[in-house]
Amino acid sequence: MVIDSFAGSGTTGAVAHKMGRRWIMVELGEHCHTHIIPRLKKVIDGEDPGGITEAVGWKGGGGFRYYRLAPSLLEKDKWGNYVINKEFNAAMLAEALCKLEGFTYAPSDAVYWQHGHSTERDFIYVTTQNLGHEQLQALSDEVGTERSLLVLCSAFRGKADRYPNLTLKKIPNAVLKRCEWGKDDYSLQVENLPKAPPEPGQQALFDDGDGK
Ligand SMILES: C[S@@+](CC[C@H](N)C(=O)[O-])C[C@H]1O[C@@H](n2cnc3c(N)ncnc32)[C@H](O)[C@@H]1O
Repeated sequence: MVIDSFAGSGTTGAVAHKMGRRWIMVELGEHCHTHIIPRLKKVIDGEDPGGITEAVGWKGGGGFRYYRLAPSLLEKDKWGNYVINKEFNAAMLAEALCKLEGFTYAPSDAVYWQHGHSTERDFIYVTTQNLGHEQLQALSDEVGTERSLLVLCSAFRGKADRYPNLTLKKIPNAVLKRCEWGKDDYSLQVENLPKAPPEPGQQALFDDGDGK
C-alpha cells in the first residue's frame, strides 16, 4: 500500500498502480481535477506510456475512487462557542451525523424524522431546531412502542429521559464527544491482533506441540 499525501501531479499513484500496488493520494489544490484524475484515467486505459510502463509491461486496468473531504462540521462563533458550520446544508448535516453515530444514512421520503437507521426499528433524526415538549411528545407518539429514535437537535426543552423511545442529544456536544482531543499517537496496535483460526487440516507454522 503506497500513500502520497502531497500528490501533486499524481506520479506516485501512477507508478504504484502500474506496479500492481494499492495506493492512496491526497491533494489540497486543484491538481486533483487538472492533473491527477486525467492522468490516472490514462493509466487505467493503458494510454500513459512513460515511466515504468514498458519495464513492468503495463497494459492498463484497475480503477480508483475519488472523495472530496467535507469542511469541518463545527466552527467557532464570535464568542468562541462551537456552532454548526454554515457550509453544511441539511442533507450534509444528516449524513455526517449518521456517520458519526454509526447509522446508515437513508432518508425516508415519507417520514420526516427518519434520516437513517441502525437496525430495522432504530432510527435517527437530525434537525437544527430547538425542540419543545409538544414537538417531542408528537415525535414520541409517532415512533411508538415498537421503535426507537435518536434525535440530534440544536437544543431541546425539558428532561432528556422523559420519552422512553427517544434519545435526545444536542448537536455540537454530540459531535465534540466523538472528537479525539489531545491525541497525537495514531500508531496501529498490532501486538494483540486476534489470531485467524487455522484452516481445517492446516499445520501451524511454529507448532509447539500443544496445538496452540
Ligand atoms: C511537489 S508536489 C508533490 C509531488 C508528488 N509527491 C509526486 O510524486 O509527483 C507537492 C503537492 O503537495 C500539495 N500540498 C501541500 N500541502 C498539502 C496538504 N496539507 N495536504 C494535501 N496536499 C498538500 C501541493 O498542492 C502540491 O501539489
